[in-house]
Amino acid sequence: MTIHTELLNQLRQIVGAPNVLTEGDLEAYELDWRRRERGRSLAVVRPGSTEEVAAVVRACVVAKVSMVPQGGNTGMVVGSTPDASGTQVLLSLQRMNRVRKLDAGNLTITVDAGCVLQNIQDACEKDGFLFPLSLASEGSCTIGGNLGTNAGGTQVVRYGNTRELCLGLEVVTAQGDIWNGLTGLRKDNTGYDLRHLFIGSEGTLGVITAATMKLYPMPVSQLTAFAAVPSMEAAVELLGLAHRFLSSGLTGFEVMGQFALSLVAKHYPQQRVPFWQETPWCVVLENSDNESETHARECLERLLEAAMEQGCVTDAVVAESMAQAKALWHIRESIPLAQADEGLNIKHDISIGVSRIPEFVRLTDAALTKAFPGARLVTYGHLGDGNLHYNVQAPASDDAARFLNEEEAPINALVFEFVDQFNGSISAEHGIGSLKVEKLEHHKSPVALSLMRNIKLALDPHNLMNPGRVIRL
Ligand code: FAD
Ligand code: MLT
Ligand code: ZN
Repeated sequence: MTIHTELLNQLRQIVGAPNVLTEGDLEAYELDWRRRERGRSLAVVRPGSTEEVAAVVRACVVAKVSMVPQGGNTGMVVGSTPDASGTQVLLSLQRMNRVRKLDAGNLTITVDAGCVLQNIQDACEKDGFLFPLSLASEGSCTIGGNLGTNAGGTQVVRYGNTRELCLGLEVVTAQGDIWNGLTGLRKDNTGYDLRHLFIGSEGTLGVITAATMKLYPMPVSQLTAFAAVPSMEAAVELLGLAHRFLSSGLTGFEVMGQFALSLVAKHYPQQRVPFWQETPWCVVLENSDNESETHARECLERLLEAAMEQGCVTDAVVAESMAQAKALWHIRESIPLAQADEGLNIKHDISIGVSRIPEFVRLTDAALTKAFPGARLVTYGHLGDGNLHYNVQAPASDDAARFLNEEEAPINALVFEFVDQFNGSISAEHGIGSLKVEKLEHHKSPVALSLMRNIKLALDPHNLMNPGRVIRL
């Protein structure tokens, strides 16, 4: 019996034969969301409990077989699919999808790692609470994946990234031990905060099996406005005003370039996209209020009046109902889908100090369009957090696959050169995965890289947890 056959038999004993998939259509597990790389796994293993995850990890360690944790497989950087070797175990957390406990007094919810984000939001809303993490992929991404990537999304300006929302983790270590850190404590200075090592580690240090997350009272009112702005400078000016007028009520502030919106109008003609033909940029922003809807509306209207007086908004609509608000947000959330429909593309998920974003966009746009005539810039993102999705689509007349093959490297080099000049980050919220490993090596300091390697070696000395992703040894 080969070592792999023996391991597969053990895995079947641990999780049950129907939960060890080795044949049939495994594309959903082996192809990444952006369709950039198709991997092959030794098996897709679907444990149903923390103890089963631990036993799977121990069996893989003995067999020296590496593992790739996976949640909803919506990641943007090819980090959750196996490599092409056919020797890795794909560890899917999807069966671990229980809400363990909602503690109303402590304002926390404890959930299995495979819980789909939207199901967590719904469970909280049912009891009158808000779980504010919000991404367009929320119908399929999991909290384990959100923690693994330290996902951002559209509410970070008020509530922070996934890291800020996490009060405790349960983790299966790379040795197969179970660490229960589900304390739910808001204060705990008892040495190194291990939770923060695993958050954002993209499955390279251990497997997150459960988490305790912060809740907030559901706001009385959430009002959305969609505004036409004449320039990126004006968008940043509007953000300043929004902070002033709305204070902590400002829960979302997203910018969308004209070409990005044109893709939504083209691929989803049923959606009515306001203003996009008349203005280079639009902003969608949200005001959450704990007083009353009237108060929320007054604050928002005062903000828009001031913005129009100052000239940083040329036109605006405020949603009259929840359905209208959802429709306006849906436009923003449809951009990545419309971009995928348009064809293969180059993504840059960058962050820059908010005040310097207009200058960054002006200089980088000019350099890119000069060096790559016809390249179409799909710029949008979380301006409130200084995070832009500064994406590049092939010229309309070009073959997208050829463009990607030949131009991705020089385009990345150009964009990241500007990001470095502006002291920005080459990955604001999507992570490193395998797509950006080399870039990380280029852009991070040798001291930082060495510290990261030491952490990896200390926690996963045999390099079996998602090897080759994030940091190479
Ligand atoms: P996966 O894709 O399965 O995995 C992502 C990484 O986490 C992999 O490295 C994987 O190994 C690791 N991982 C998964 N589960 C675990 C676990 N239990 N323990 C340890 N490691 C684990 N991201 C944003 O940040 N902001 C956005 O606004 C946003 N919008 C998106 C919109 C769309 C339409 C799509 C398709 C994606 C979007 N994303 C966004 C990217 C993606 O949804 C997030 O990165 C999300 O957090 C991934 O969750 P997942 O469950 O799909 O993880
Ligand atoms: C978004 O903000 O829409 C996402 O991060 C997805 C993407 O950039 O494609
Ligand atoms: Zn984003």
